[in-house]
Amino acid sequence: MPQNILTEIKDQIFYITINREDKLNALNIQTLSDIKNAVLSIYDNAEVRGVILTGKGTKAFAAGADIAEFANFNIEEGTRMSEEGHAVLRAIDNCPKPVIAAVNGFALGGGNELAMACHIRVAVEKARFGQPEVNLGITPGYAGTQRLAQLIGKGRALEFLMTADMMDAQTALNYGLVNHVVPADQLIPKCEEILNKIKAKAPLAISSVIRCVNAYYEKRADGNDVEINEFGNFFGSQDFIEGTKAFLEKRPANFNGQ
Ligand code: COA
Repeated sequence: MPQNILTEIKDQIFYITINREDKLNALNIQTLSDIKNAVLSIYDNAEVRGVILTGKGTKAFAAGADIAEFANFNIEEGTRMSEEGHAVLRAIDNCPKPVIAAVNGFALGGGNELAMACHIRVAVEKARFGQPEVNLGITPGYAGTQRLAQLIGKGRALEFLMTADMMDAQTALNYGLVNHVVPADQLIPKCEEILNKIKAKAPLAISSVIRCVNAYYEKRADGNDVEINEFGNFFGSQDFIEGTKAFLEKRPANFNGQ
């Protein structure tokens, strides 16, 4: 049973809420494990077509890894912490269904890394982003050096990583760190609107898009080869037949995920 998250399935959307509001949803080992198990649990669940990940309360999405927990770690424990954090975030990034981070406040350190592992980010106007690890005498440990550079470019990423400055939501939008900035009461509805659009598409094609894009960013594979292979495999699928037939018959497609 998860201890530090709340979960719910509603209208084919899986909602995960980090539930440590008094610690600004700081990501201790238990919380990361809860998130990983929750995400893995819906990989093969046909009832779920997308995920919204958010933090409890109005102040923080997640204010980072739990500093109190790792303050006394030794080299071995620190290495394990980073390995496990990477594994959790890979489970999100490789999820065959779209995962949206609903950033309801601070996304700092591991919190920003968690948001960056999601496929899409929607933020409230008062959200703040940053990688303050250098203030603590460490580097980001959950792929922040990699994903931040991928999302906003090397020069901007290096500045944020080295100054530990916080980025406001508008800057995050301008830099491409987040997809949308909305008023707080529109946060979950905006995420639902995006997922409801994606829900109408062919599920196998959606998973394939995620795999193709991740091929390069996550696996350093040749994304073009992966795409050629993925594309060819669709011919003959029921959804391909239905999608093309529906277009020619001038009606909406009704996909069954086969
Ligand atoms: N790890 C553990 N506990 C954390 C935490 C973290 N990353 N971030 C916040 N908390 C805890 C605080 O210790 C405090 O707990 P307490 O009430 O038991 O003392 C509680 O959450 C509230 O935080 P507080 O610092 O009092 O809130 P604030 O409004 O003054 O400041 C922040 C908000 C986000 C600026 C500040 O909490 C902060 O800088 N957090 C750490 C960010 C960070 O360095 N993250 C990277 C970690 S690798």
